[in-house]
Parts: sequence; structure tokens; C-alpha cells
Amino acid sequence: MSSSEKTRLIGFGSYAPEFVLDNEDLCKRVDTSDEWIRTRTGIQSRRVAGKNESTSDLAFHAATKAIESSGLNLSDIDLVVVATITPDMSFPSTACLLQHKLGLSKVASFDLEAACSGFLYALDVADAMVASGRYRNALVVGAEKMSSILDWQDRTTCVLFGDGAGAAVLSKAGQGPQLLDFFCGADGSNPSLLCQPAGGSLRPATIESVNDRMHFLKMNGREIFKSAVRVMDSSARILLEKHQLSLEEIDHVIPHQANVRIVESLSQRLGLPMSKFFCNLEKYGNTSAASIPLAFDEGLKSGCFKPGQLGLLVAFGAGLTWSSTLLRF
Ligand code: ACO
Repeated sequence: MSSSEKTRLIGFGSYAPEFVLDNEDLCKRVDTSDEWIRTRTGIQSRRVAGKNESTSDLAFHAATKAIESSGLNLSDIDLVVVATITPDMSFPSTACLLQHKLGLSKVASFDLEAACSGFLYALDVADAMVASGRYRNALVVGAEKMSSILDWQDRTTCVLFGDGAGAAVLSKAGQGPQLLDFFCGADGSNPSLLCQPAGGSLRPATIESVNDRMHFLKMNGREIFKSAVRVMDSSARILLEKHQLSLEEIDHVIPHQANVRIVESLSQRLGLPMSKFFCNLEKYGNTSAASIPLAFDEGLKSGCFKPGQLGLLVAFGAGLTWSSTLLRF
């Protein structure tokens, strides 16, 4: 495929709820310290959505900005994909709710669930749908209200996550970073490493499941840490090898914003300096599917990414899932 036929990110936007919860605030809720959180994770604060603010509301704000920056009219959007693990409800999809809130016409809309890799999975799927010629302009959103599934009594998880949303408009017509290629993978052999145990068909909600706190996110942090570094390293290498690119040719890596120590370990493993990694996790914590678009939008707006440079987006998440995306700014 010639580069002129590649899908581009012609609009981009992000949104984080107003309320800032910093590490000191968290110390009032659980037995933790600013020093522990900073040194183990790099996180200083996170945003928390209001009681009446749902994932589709966060998605709405990010999507509105992305559509505005694309220069398209609402009537030009003909596909909506929302990546999330915190949908407004199990069904209908958050994408359908978002379609209505935005006032779009009755275009194809669906959710995609790949946890923290969700936004990159959704880009891959929407890129293929646009490339097929059956859709022209796709809205892809990563949005999460992680605060709605956190156990605020569990210090091992509640300090790590935050709420937010990021959105992109994909099209073959227009200007913006070109999507060059994707690599996605998954390993479903150990779901309990990171999961929300109850509330699905396996363990529907019961009094016991609520009392046992099974509707909250559960994680084996150490194992996830090791897997994260390993799979992000290998998925990045697979994608670059396919294009006969060396790691040195990558100008910017925008990694999933889970933990600065994971990013540092990845930087060492790939042999790339930390100066090539764009991070803003200190302000937002881990916002799951919203993390990469929140960081990407900030990098774009700050002028950090220059036209012609090569970018690598790399994510991992529950599943386990992983994904790498190669693009040219
Ligand atoms: N404050 C103070 N102490 C704490 C806290 C806290 N918030 N949390 C845990 N501790 C304690 C533990 O109880 C333990 O104490 P002990 O030694 O007396 O038992 C001690 O700190 C060390 O705990 P570890 O779990 O070994 O700490 P570790 O250095 O591994 O850091 C962390 C934990 C930050 C969770 C790390 O393992 C990590 O970042 N893992 C990856 C998490 C991640 O990125 N998850 C997102 C996945 S993406 C997605 O799809 C959602």
C-alpha cells in the first residue's frame, strides 16, 4: 500500500475530569504514603470523575474535541468504536450512548474490550474498516471511569488508577499522523492476574459477591509488572522487524502509562533512552484504555512530535493483551 493510501489520524482530543486526587489525599483513605506511591509508580495525582459523570460523558468531551480538530462535520463520521473496560452499563454499548450524545447519525457503533491495550486494538480494527472502503471517517475513543471499579480499601490497587478519555478521528482524506502498521496479541491462560471477578455470566452479582468485594479490580501486581515489560518489548520488536526498522530509527515511544518503573525497564530492555519515551502518568495514573490517547494528545499539543518523525505506541493490559502501533507524524 502506498503511503498516500494510509489512514491518518486527522483529529485528536482528550479529556480528564476536573477533580484531582493527589497522593496526600489518598493517605487519608488507605495506609499508604506519597513517598511509597511516587517511588514505586511515579504517580503523583490522578483525576476522578464525579458521581453523575459516566464513561460516555468522558468520551463525549474527548470526542467533541477530536471531531472539532479534524475539521469534519458530525454528519461525516460513519463509524464509532469505544475501547473501555468500564462501560456505562454491560449493554447497550458505550459507543451507542456516545453516538446519541454527540448527535451523530445512526452510524455503526460498538465497544471493544482489550483493557489497557484497548485503544490500540480499536485503532487497528477501525483502520482496517476504513481501509476496506466501507467506512470513511471513524471515531475511535479510549475512555475509562476506573474509579467505578476500584476497591478504595485496597491500597495495592486504588493508588494506581485514574479516570480519563482520549479520542481520534481516522480517515484517508486529510492531514495528520499516518498509521503505518499494527501488531496485536493476547494470552488468555491466566485471567486472574488482572480481572474484575464478579458481575459477568460466570459470577453474576449476588449479596455474597458484593460482600466479598468481587466487583472490584483485582491484580497480581508483581506478575503483571514482569509480563508487561516482556510483552511490550517483544511486540515492539516484532513490528519493527517486519518493517526492517531498527529501534534507533524510532523518534518517540508513547507507552501505556501504568508505572514509570515499567517504562524504565522497557527502555533498558529495548536499549532506548528514557528521553524517547513520552510520559504523563505522574498526573493521571493508569487510565487503562485512555492512557495512550491522553499521552499522545498531550505530546501532539506540546509540539513534541515533529512531522516526518516515527512514533511507536505500545500497550499491555488485562487478558493479557498487548499491542504495538507504528506511525509517522
Ligand atoms: N502503600 C504502601 N505500601 C504498599 C502499597 C501502598 N499503596 N501497596 C502495597 N504496599 C506494600 C505491600 O503490602 C508490600 O508489603 P509487605 O512487603 O509488608 O508485604 C510492599 O508494599 C511491597 O509490595 P509489592 O507488591 O511487592 O510492591 P511492588 O514493588 O511490586 O510494587 C506495584 C507494586 C506498584 C503494584 C507494581 O507491582 C506494579 O506496578 N505492577 C504493575 C501494575 C500495573 O501496571 N497494572 C496495570 C495493568 S494494565 C491494565 O490492564 C489495567
